[in-house]
Amino acid sequence: MDNLCKNRTHNNGELTINDVNKIVELKGWCAKKRNLGSLIFIDIRDKYGITQLRCDDNVKDVATLIKNEYVIYAKGKVVERESKNKNIPTGDIEVVVSDLKIINSAEQPPIYISDDSEATSENVRLKYRYLDLRRKTLQDNLKLRHQITRSVREYLDSLDFTEVETPILGKSTPEGARDYLVPSRIHNGSFYALPQSPQIFKQLLMVAGLERYYQIARCFRDEDLRADRQPEFTQIDIEMSFVDLDTLYTILENMFRKIFKDIKGIDNLSFPKYSWHYVMDNYGSDKPDLRYDLKFIDISNLFINSTYEFLNNKVVKALVIKNSANLFTRKEIDSLTDLAKLFKAKGLCWCKLNENNLEGASAKLIDNKEEFIKILDLANNDLVLFTADNWLTATTSLGQVRIAVAKKLNLAKKDEYKFLWVTEFPMYEYNDDGKLQAMHHPFTAYIEEDEKYIENEPLKVRSNAYDLVLNGYELGSGSVRIYNQDMQRKVFERLGLSDDDIKNKFGFFVEALKYGTPPHMGMGFGLERITMILANTTNIRDVVAFPKVQSASDLMNECPSEVDEEALNLLGIKVINKN
Ligand code: AMO
Repeated sequence: MDNLCKNRTHNNGELTINDVNKIVELKGWCAKKRNLGSLIFIDIRDKYGITQLRCDDNVKDVATLIKNEYVIYAKGKVVERESKNKNIPTGDIEVVVSDLKIINSAEQPPIYISDDSEATSENVRLKYRYLDLRRKTLQDNLKLRHQITRSVREYLDSLDFTEVETPILGKSTPEGARDYLVPSRIHNGSFYALPQSPQIFKQLLMVAGLERYYQIARCFRDEDLRADRQPEFTQIDIEMSFVDLDTLYTILENMFRKIFKDIKGIDNLSFPKYSWHYVMDNYGSDKPDLRYDLKFIDISNLFINSTYEFLNNKVVKALVIKNSANLFTRKEIDSLTDLAKLFKAKGLCWCKLNENNLEGASAKLIDNKEEFIKILDLANNDLVLFTADNWLTATTSLGQVRIAVAKKLNLAKKDEYKFLWVTEFPMYEYNDDGKLQAMHHPFTAYIEEDEKYIENEPLKVRSNAYDLVLNGYELGSGSVRIYNQDMQRKVFERLGLSDDDIKNKFGFFVEALKYGTPPHMGMGFGLERITMILANTTNIRDVVAFPKVQSASDLMNECPSEVDEEALNLLGIKVINKN
């Protein structure tokens, strides 16, 4: 304990058997009180932990008044406990109180503050977030997040990166989600866009000659929320000039080695690289969880001449779940089928090997059963799930089934960390309206040998974009940026952007690239996702101090909220649609 807190000799998480007989002074909140008549026990809590106070007759008057969440001061002698609590570090001792004071009283809290109980609904806890944050798990998560950024800063500082803040009020960025807009008072009718990432600015910093930049950057995206998405979030944003791709990989891998060493003491991480096509083809996902294998087997050849239209000449991918057929009920297989259908599959075929016979709904579809058993190397009680469709649908739908199966069978180990780089993403994709768009963003360089496909087979063009994936999460994305005017023109042209479009959207940026742009590349990592994995939670709200809920509102401060007429008038805005 430092001596910055007056009248506090120790924190509530540090006293042990070695401190017996010391006179100590503690401060904190009353976490729990047990009144045994002649004796009152109080658990005093601060950010470090909990210590048991034993209040005898001499302080009984004050102890009786104390309720949960009162802020209190206690002075007393450390003694060995009769009945020890092995679950907390201070569980061997208690403090026999000689002086007890109430520093501040508290109303009855609307939520129960304890890690044992998540019984109160999350919405109520979020309304009283400042109370929920008194829970140890949430405080630990915030500390963890801080440790990660500290580790990152130490590491990048040591490599001569400069941390630069870029504007929050800006112009639309090319990340592709919807922007949050801020109306201008001075220029009525004009709007700032909050940055979806600092992408343009970090590239301009390379044009400016900074060479190595990073920022722990706030980003804003008005998109549908999921368990790993918030409308505002933080990126560890990095850009560097004059390096080659291998150097970039090494620098970033070592950053994660340091984070995991500092925080988990782990030092045997590896970072294999797989192309986008490989992971899609084998796992049906561009962010596969490699803590379990469950790799697809291609059985298209077995159905080339099938009399069933949906199998004939299709891409057919199979998942073999070893020795588990007895673990899946019909109902569970039906719900896996529904899942596959959600991802555009026409259905999910299944069969199992039982006493060397193929059984199950889809067994009748298989003409050459012997070959099927051989290729899939089936043993009794193996379950086979397979999809047939075009390549993308067959793989992505079975990819979702793969995840659900692994979840049911609990295949992912908790303390295992399987990183991988996914490289060579396609340069272009079609959006839902059938329009060609850049898969990463239009400043991403393509792999030069694929230039020949740009005109007629754009989906075949591979980009120099890469993702870092960990345990089934996309931790970050990045790319080698275009610095050559000719390549930039070709990319824009293929996207159908006219000179006017380019000027309107990225005018100043495209101009900046003309004044001697160094070769550069970079990456942005989601800080919340890294923290989630290290904190072992699947809920992004657990690692954000004041998060928003699914509908993008903050239940505590009730935003977004209406503003008064006068404020709107100043901005030249009239609301015509309210919901
Ligand atoms: P990208 O859009 O892939 O790339 O974002 C990079 C990483 O940011 C995290 N992320 C999010 N985290 C929480 N909530 C969200 N709504 C959210 N959206 C994204 C993810 C993702 O991998 N400018 C490029 C990077 C670059 O090219 O340097 C970019 O933003 O972990």
